[in-house]
Amino acid sequence: MNQTEKKLIKINMDENRRGLIRKMFGKMKQYDVTAKGIQGRKIKISDNHWVIDFASCNYLGLDLDKDMSNTILKEIDNWGVHPSWCRLVASPDIYNHLEQKISKLIGTESCIIFPTVTLISIGVLPALVGKTGVLILDKSAHETMYEAAKIARDNGAVLESFKQDDFAALERILIKHRDNPRIVIMVDGVYSMSGDYANLPELVKLAKKYKALIYIDDAHGFGVVGEKPSKKYPLGKKGNGIVKYYGLDYENIIYVGGCSKAYSSLAAFIGCSQVMSAFIKAFATPYDLSGPCPIASLATLSQGLKINEKRGEKFRLKLWNLTQKALKGLRAQGYTVINRTGFPILSVHIGDTAKLIKTANFLFKEGILVTVAPYPMMKKGEEVHRISITAANTEEDVGQLIAAFGKIRKINII
Ligand SMILES: Cc1ncc(COP(=O)(O)O)c(C=O)c1O
Repeated sequence: MNQTEKKLIKINMDENRRGLIRKMFGKMKQYDVTAKGIQGRKIKISDNHWVIDFASCNYLGLDLDKDMSNTILKEIDNWGVHPSWCRLVASPDIYNHLEQKISKLIGTESCIIFPTVTLISIGVLPALVGKTGVLILDKSAHETMYEAAKIARDNGAVLESFKQDDFAALERILIKHRDNPRIVIMVDGVYSMSGDYANLPELVKLAKKYKALIYIDDAHGFGVVGEKPSKKYPLGKKGNGIVKYYGLDYENIIYVGGCSKAYSSLAAFIGCSQVMSAFIKAFATPYDLSGPCPIASLATLSQGLKINEKRGEKFRLKLWNLTQKALKGLRAQGYTVINRTGFPILSVHIGDTAKLIKTANFLFKEGILVTVAPYPMMKKGEEVHRISITAANTEEDVGQLIAAFGKIRKINII
């Protein structure tokens, strides 16, 4: 390694919290894993070591669905593998079909597809607040919004933050900036570590009172939660997102959905009014400075939306039942499992990074792959194993998950 490069990396490793995170992960087998093969939700690590995947967020299991790939070749025949126009120049017609279909599904006037949620946040949030507006970040919201907010702050915007669900604190910030005509509150629709749902009714009340907009990152919720939740359909129906889950309209709301989780396709979208859509096309830099989604991803998204119409409710019921089984099994063993909603994200509290590393390595040996969240990804005392469940997991998979956590208890490694 060149000396300049070595020095540069060392300084960054020492001064940035990511350096410490890297050191923690360096001690874990559940890090940067190479999958040598996949069979259902089982991943081959070596000839005699397979792990069950509880780290995937392909909630509907569409990544493994045989019907998903049917339209890829046809669309590639139509458009080539990757027409690389930025969207400002031209877009293959498949974009228009998808945008109309998604707008109809979620109930917005308009919709624009970008490759990722991160690109949307980085492009749209600084554009919304310009040089003098205010961004108000929920501290539990996804880090990519914070990254986007830092760009806005660099342009001159003010960045404030509040603790999730602390509406008194949020209101104090709104009062402080009440004369500012550009205020945007940023929240996750479904929180990525807890599976909590944003309390949209309260947020909307405040946003309306203080003439603010709410920017919702529903990367996890889109495809999983949806309209008219009931006893029979606890996650709601159609998977049309957190706003529909609450039966709200989109006044004061800009909705961002991700397709790389539930729909297993590299794409994301922003759902908004026609006027906002025209503004975003003119102001969001990824629309003109960055590339489009691969055609294969647009094709799988199109196919995924069709499959959702036919089999979506079945997938979501399976997701709900597997999650309930995991919650009951883990809690029965005395674990504190963070999950108030029944959404298929479960965080098992370990609360100590050394113990977290030890248990992560044990779980991996026992054939269970989870997402490990050590300090300083989490605050000290809040370290967790995050389990995500998909419709491609089985009852047996969940049984093995519970059994592996049970062994941790029995052999006293925590
Ligand atoms: C809540 C949330 N927002 C955004 C992202 C990033 O999404 P993308 O990969 O589409 O940029 C993630 C990824 O895990 C996420 O969990």
